[in-house]
Amino acid sequence: MYHSKITGLGYYVPENIVTNDDLSKIMDTNDEWIQERTGIKRRRHVNSLEDTTTSMGVKAAKIAIDRSGIAKEDIDFIIFATLSPDYYFPGPGVLVQRDLGLKTVGALDVRNQCSGFVYAISIADQYIKTGMYKNILVIGSEVHSRGLDFTTRGRGVSVIFGDGAGAAILSREEDLTKGILSTHLHSEGQYAEELAVIAPGMGKRWVTDIIADNDPNDESYYPHMNGQFVFKNAVVRFSEVIMEGLKANGLEISDIDMLIPHQANLRISQFIQQKFKLNDDQVYNNIMEYGNTTAASIPIALTEAWEKGKIKEGDTVVLAAFGSGFTWGSVIIKW
Ligand code: UT7
Repeated sequence: MYHSKITGLGYYVPENIVTNDDLSKIMDTNDEWIQERTGIKRRRHVNSLEDTTTSMGVKAAKIAIDRSGIAKEDIDFIIFATLSPDYYFPGPGVLVQRDLGLKTVGALDVRNQCSGFVYAISIADQYIKTGMYKNILVIGSEVHSRGLDFTTRGRGVSVIFGDGAGAAILSREEDLTKGILSTHLHSEGQYAEELAVIAPGMGKRWVTDIIADNDPNDESYYPHMNGQFVFKNAVVRFSEVIMEGLKANGLEISDIDMLIPHQANLRISQFIQQKFKLNDDQVYNNIMEYGNTTAASIPIALTEAWEKGKIKEGDTVVLAAFGSGFTWGSVIIKW
């Protein structure tokens, strides 16, 4: 029995900065509304075909690999979390295997949206704990900007999401007091359609109809979100799953050195911070700069917090996510 430990972190965001004022030129929105409701000031959008979900993931992965000190040949397995894959299939995991020039290691794709990175970390942790693999590359990456409705019709969703990628190397740790202490995962599929992209999907229609209907004005190709309902569920589930993780390890809220919440909405993070009475230096937020980058938001935030020296050896670090599915989860780490 082993533990797994994060030994390398990296992130990549596209250069193209899109401000709230930029969006207000193409749809009926404004900086005040966006900042007041979400905390977002700007986000990144890919501006050329050069950046894809996979290519950004690879860029983040190269940084994580370098920092972990392992050679890329030491990677035993790839796990890629995204809701915006380059292709409908195959998923981006195999594209990373190809683009990094790795030997024929396994590659797994995770479809758990905002909770994708937490789910991916949990899977990697299990493989390492059992001794099956020693080093696993975990990536969360999203290109939202090519799939959003930038007319006023889509403003409730399109102002929120941004593009970017984050990656982590999880490696075997023999000291069982260190590394990932536990992960906790949940779902509630009765609310699947409250935050979803319905098409392309094989669920209720024939493929020929979908092809015939391939019309950019078809709303089912764009994300639908029942914002207030998602918000209400998020604040409850975030709190629950953080407490579940702490309790499982005999920890208290006061033991948290750093909470990295999925960056869904600054108001959600602030609600949790106030409820748990955490100081500003115990919670890391960067949604102001990048918007909601879904599966990439936790690894980008975790990397930034680590780069700024806000996470030190021995710290208790908590990752928590909630999103489409609904799915939610937490990871408790002794750094
Ligand atoms: O990461 C996955 C999980 N996602 C979340 O956790 C997101 C949770 N939900 C939220 O963050 C918030 O619900 C939103 C930020 C999405 C929306 O904020 P809200 O305070 O719930 O606003 P609302 O949807 O109730 O909309 C209020 C008003 C509406 O106008 P009326 O009906 O009051 O006249 C909207 O049409 O704001 C309008 N509105 C906008 N106005 C300017 C919606 N989007 C915009 C916009 N700019 N971009």
